[in-house]
Amino acid sequence: MEHFHYQQGELFAEGLAAAAIAERFGTPCYLYSRAALERSLDEYLDALADRPHLVCYAVKANSSLAVLDILARRGAGFDIVSIGELERVIAAGGDPAKTVFSGVGKTAAEMARALEHGIRCFNLESAAELEVLNRVAGELGRQAPVSVRVNPDVDARTHPYISTGLKENKFGVTVDEALRVYRRAAQLPHISVQGLDCHIGSQLTELSPFVDALRRLLALVDQLAAEGIALRHLDLGGGLGVRYRDEQPPSVADYIGAIREQLGSRELELVLEPGRSIAANAGILLTRVEYTKQTPDHNFALVDAGMNDLIRPALYQAWMDIRPVVPRTDTETQAWDVVGPVCETADFLGKQRELALAAGDLLAVFGAGAYGFVMSSNYNSRGRAAEVVVDGEQVHLARERETIEDQLRLEHRLPAGA
Ligand code: LLP
Repeated sequence: MEHFHYQQGELFAEGLAAAAIAERFGTPCYLYSRAALERSLDEYLDALADRPHLVCYAVKANSSLAVLDILARRGAGFDIVSIGELERVIAAGGDPAKTVFSGVGKTAAEMARALEHGIRCFNLESAAELEVLNRVAGELGRQAPVSVRVNPDVDARTHPYISTGLKENKFGVTVDEALRVYRRAAQLPHISVQGLDCHIGSQLTELSPFVDALRRLLALVDQLAAEGIALRHLDLGGGLGVRYRDEQPPSVADYIGAIREQLGSRELELVLEPGRSIAANAGILLTRVEYTKQTPDHNFALVDAGMNDLIRPALYQAWMDIRPVVPRTDTETQAWDVVGPVCETADFLGKQRELALAAGDLLAVFGAGAYGFVMSSNYNSRGRAAEVVVDGEQVHLARERETIEDQLRLEHRLPAGA
């Protein structure tokens, strides 16, 4: 059964009516399904069960402690890009030894902290970073486990803002540069070469870019082996797309199948960093229509969630499905622009959506479990939304709605008389 589904004329999240959750916790409210999170992680774990693997959920997609907790209990490792994300993983009960550290700008302080926690691997993105890491590890009397992130220069054929594996992108190093970085790494006293890493972009809906990248990486693995630099693992990053509208991304099983075909009989442990494909369709955003406003050209539904709550439509022109929580039968459908209260023309959740609605109705934005709450802000001094997890017929508050006191807590007026 789908974890978000309509029954008896209204939207349910697992065993609970979404409308009842909105009543209890207010709107806007992110709602995540535990079963959906577990199922999407299991798809990866099942497809990899008979070979060495580590599935490192990309924390950036949804870093709610409750979500990390659910995934950690199910056996996930984690991919982090800041020390803040590592502290979240630890607070949620995740294992640093199953955590890889990506990102182009790790600071020395972040490296030191990650080393103290004993993380699994640093995914290096430049030659300069290698030198800093060697120094930091030396100061702590440790060996830093590393992979080099290679930018294989393949076109992920996704939105330009979320494409990362082209030579014009800031991520990783070229294959030639990677060779130099590995040779240097092999000589440094506080570095231990572990693997090879790559991440070519997000929301990929075809297998061929992954396969092209993998072929290039395997050629490099062989070349390194010939030079006596043996790698233990291959990290292919994240990027598998999901269906928001009518995309037809490959299934997890097909994606893993294609990787396995290329790997053949190699012993390399396979590390993956999926984010969106684990979390996106495990979450919805509930919002209420405050007003309707009809002009000669447009029908506006003014809702209580804005671009500060969910920025994907404004930032990437992302299309996310919007449906009524309790579909009406007493009103005709019309084309509505579903817009938020923020003072920006880009503040919309969807445009020209055929919906039957009236003020007071609840709407659900689907596919909001990844890159939703995590990208939210306090713009217009709006408190961030509540987050809840549904688990069968239970509901758990994962994050309280932010109050104005929360927002003001870190701020100070000038001293009197200044
Ligand atoms: N690993 C690395 C190094 C990454 O940079 C990313 C995502 C992932 C893994 C996870 O990729 P995924 O499986 O989620 O595609 N905010 C954008 C997406 C940005 C993705 C950034 N990197 C959006 O809302 O579409």
